[in-house]
Amino acid sequence: MELKNRSAIITGAGKGIGKAIATALAEEGVNLGLVARTRSDLESLQASLASTYGVKVFIASADIAVKSEVDQAVSTLKENLGSIDILINNAGIGTFGTLLDMDHEQWESIIQTNVLGTYYVTRAALPTMLEQSSGSIINIASSAGERGFATGSAYCASKFAVIGMTEALMQEVRKSNIRVTVLTPSTVNTELASNAGLKIGDEDRMMQAEDLAELVLAALKLPDRVFIKSAGIWTTNPQ
Ligand SMILES: NC(=O)c1ccc[n+]([C@@H]2O[C@H](COP(=O)([O-])OP(=O)(O)OC[C@H]3O[C@@H](n4cnc5c(N)ncnc54)[C@H](OP(=O)(O)O)[C@@H]3O)[C@@H](O)[C@H]2O)c1
Repeated sequence: MELKNRSAIITGAGKGIGKAIATALAEEGVNLGLVARTRSDLESLQASLASTYGVKVFIASADIAVKSEVDQAVSTLKENLGSIDILINNAGIGTFGTLLDMDHEQWESIIQTNVLGTYYVTRAALPTMLEQSSGSIINIASSAGERGFATGSAYCASKFAVIGMTEALMQEVRKSNIRVTVLTPSTVNTELASNAGLKIGDEDRMMQAEDLAELVLAALKLPDRVFIKSAGIWTTNPQ
């Protein structure tokens, strides 16, 4: 698909992987609608991408875990952008601990954000894609959605769910010319990883958010008639 002048909504665009994807898409001439909770992160990215790449960048500060905030944000961004050709469901949180050590509010909040948040954003954006009979949705799950590990009960459960939701939706909408993809990266050098204590050793040798953004671009650039159903992205430098 030709990317120039397309419109994309990216959740969790304030930092990390979402910010790298926003930057890569802006470089291709894609107009952007950026979502995160921290408005100042979005404002500084908006200013730098609009001035560097000359694309239109709209922002909406919203918590994807709250349906009313998502509905408001997606509707405003759609009005500003005029269409939604691409949706990157990237926003997510991860905290880790044994099932009994994590309190239930913490556990529930991971499911509420990673699973229900992804569902709310998709539910708000999908009708536009169905009207257009075109669109690409890329969900950022994790290798934690393919295998469980100790201390990951909530995070793994949430990412297994995102993979299942993606595959089911893909089967519902592919005949409407809407491509739905799930990416399952292993550890990426971001705040989420460092806060979770996942960064070990040489940061430069870890997978970078920009590496993942390259895969997103490659997936979006495929001819409309094909799509990547799911893809893992790993590092050649396992710790
Ligand atoms: N880093 C890794 O090792 C890794 C590996 C595999 C998959 N992933 C997945 O990749 C995605 C991005 O992770 P990252 O490492 O880039 O994390 P990050 O550096 O912590 O950035 C997360 C972004 O999402 C936003 N966000 C978080 N909760 C939100 C909410 N409730 N509503 C709206 N925005 C929210 C954050 O902004 P605010 O806090 O301002 O809202 C921030 O902009 C997540 O889904 C994560 O699970 C990460």
